[in-house]
Amino acid sequence: MKIFHTSTQLRAYLDERKHLTRGFVPTMGNLHAGHLALIAQAKASSDITIASIFVNRLQFLPHEDFDSYPRTWDDDVQALTDAGCDLLFAPNEAELYPEPQTYKVHPTPELADKLEGEFRPGFFTGVCTVVMKLFQIVQPDVAVFGKKDYQQLAVIRGMARQFALPITIVAGETLRADDGLALSSRNRYLSADERQAAVGLSQTLRAMTEAALMPQANIQKIEADALETMRNKGWQPDYLTIRTQQGLRAIDPAQREPWVVLGAAKLGKTRLIDNLEF
Ligand code: PAJ
Repeated sequence: MKIFHTSTQLRAYLDERKHLTRGFVPTMGNLHAGHLALIAQAKASSDITIASIFVNRLQFLPHEDFDSYPRTWDDDVQALTDAGCDLLFAPNEAELYPEPQTYKVHPTPELADKLEGEFRPGFFTGVCTVVMKLFQIVQPDVAVFGKKDYQQLAVIRGMARQFALPITIVAGETLRADDGLALSSRNRYLSADERQAAVGLSQTLRAMTEAALMPQANIQKIEADALETMRNKGWQPDYLTIRTQQGLRAIDPAQREPWVVLGAAKLGKTRLIDNLEF
């Protein structure tokens, strides 16, 4: 695998291979099997597979875990090499943000200011800005994003559509541990006891889908009960909610369209998110 730390080097390399299609997987590193499954999807749909590793300060709030976010360079390079990734773009902050990034991509508040955006204000502006910048540098034909970050995927799809980006956005299914916990870089913050309890998030989401599919289900009550149950189990949930897959809007139970249950909750100091389509 070739590794580039500057966009000039990466572009020079890619310029000589203009005829090859590019599949791109942006990441913040600390790679696990979920990331590697996205690499496999990119590989299957393009000639050259490109991953990026960049912990993007713009998408962290001041009190969040930017400084402590796990950085596992050697393991990541090994994992990407083993996965057959062709190129790794790993800029440092001075390379990607040589001057303060004062031009930003602001996604529509209608989609980006709720759920994650409510609890992490500015998060999706940070994500869109870095992804737009990475897209400009890499110029991929296909870019793969995980459904694990369901709202992020929706926001990126909207950005690609509204800016007429010539990039096919592909969704990757969420990879889970055997007990159902969605794989996440932040899982490594969990103590052994917390790791045991962490499965409670996906279990609660599953129970919510079952309750929502019952005749005459009361969605608001299902959401309120789920918040209560998780609080009683020692979690601090931000939201547990059933939405339309399209636009993540409040659902009309009379109208059956594809739904998704989304949740974010803190266990101790670790904030986990998950979702299930149904
Ligand atoms: P990061 O959290 O590293 O995730 C990179 C990609 O991996 C995202 O598309 C995410 O949805 C996907 N992913 C994470 N866990 C997954 C799992 N268990 N199964 C499948 N896919 C999974 O998301 C980001 O980085 C950043 O916001 C980024 C898009 C790179 C912009 O900085």
